[in-house]
Amino acid sequence: MWPNSWSLSNMVNLQTLSVPQRSLDQDCTTLSRHVLGQFNSFSAEAQDLSALMNRIALAGKLISRRLSGAGLIEDVLGFTGEKNVQGENVKKMDIFANEVFISVLRQSGLVCRLASEEMEKPYYIKENCPISRYTLLYDPIDGSSNVDINLNVGSIFSIRQQQGIDIDEQARDLLQDGHSQIAAGYILYGAATILVYSMGKGVHSFTLDPSLGEFILSQENITIPRKGNVYSTNEGNFWQWSEQMRDYVRYVHLNDGYTARYGGALVGDFHRILLQGGVFLYPGTIQKPEGKLRLLYESAPLAFLSQQAGGLATNGEKNILDIVPQHLHERSPLFLGSLEEVKLVESFLQSR
Ligand code: AHG
Ligand code: MN
Ligand code: MN
Repeated sequence: MWPNSWSLSNMVNLQTLSVPQRSLDQDCTTLSRHVLGQFNSFSAEAQDLSALMNRIALAGKLISRRLSGAGLIEDVLGFTGEKNVQGENVKKMDIFANEVFISVLRQSGLVCRLASEEMEKPYYIKENCPISRYTLLYDPIDGSSNVDINLNVGSIFSIRQQQGIDIDEQARDLLQDGHSQIAAGYILYGAATILVYSMGKGVHSFTLDPSLGEFILSQENITIPRKGNVYSTNEGNFWQWSEQMRDYVRYVHLNDGYTARYGGALVGDFHRILLQGGVFLYPGTIQKPEGKLRLLYESAPLAFLSQQAGGLATNGEKNILDIVPQHLHERSPLFLGSLEEVKLVESFLQSR
């Protein structure tokens, strides 16, 4: 295959040529180092949040590994036969991913309470509670309907600071607006496994390098284009929408310049919009007047990212980040993405 005269070193050189070389420093710009950089300090708080983000990254690696082997390992795909607090059929991956987040945070001293889409009540990691002030809210697998067909899914997370002592373990202090999030982000399990996060100083993305087992910085200070040609919604719900929502969809149907992209997983649909612009729409429907998406661990984290990236997220009337939930699994209509596109949607929703 190789000319006889070529030595091993030639082949090595050729191989290295085929892989774009990263600088050593870029290889060392891991998630934990980047988080410390967000604080410009090595304070206890910075160290804690850096360690916490690292545990979330570990959860992402464990879930990514499970997903990539799903077709070959027994009992990964398919339904459990149970329904969750949402009334939805639970996938085996939902349960696995939920338990991954619990496991990576045990004995970490970092997080006292977990609030998950898959658990009716907050879960207390007792050994952590005496010293931890953080709560992790998460959707362990977002886009479950994609799991069995190897299409992209994600995990969504939000970090809040515990307020008060929560003596009766009701976690009422979680029922605050989205501005009280300390950090938010998601992991997208796609062709690559990507982690996107913000701590209030811009939106940054990391790509998992399996050869290192590390999330390496791939994009800093991501901004959502003010306009975008993508609209992302489930048009199968047209019969259940208000006339105002239908008017918006009629508008994009009748005007050049729009294209429909809907992947069935909020994280994937949002990631496209974060990078290329556009708008994601999940309005209220006849069957779900409050919409389908959950405020505390789907809409609010993504609204936090949108705002940090110069975009907008509303429920059609008010900023998602201003909404104070009345209960843990509250749903809300969600319109999310490019500033001008979301405002265009709002102009239809508020007309008639
Ligand atoms: P989850 O799998 O966590 O329940 O989330 C699914 C959500 C969201 O990811 C997606 O945008 C939406 O449900 C899809 O809903 P429809 O199938 O009704 O379009
Ligand atoms: Mn979800
Ligand atoms: Mn989910």
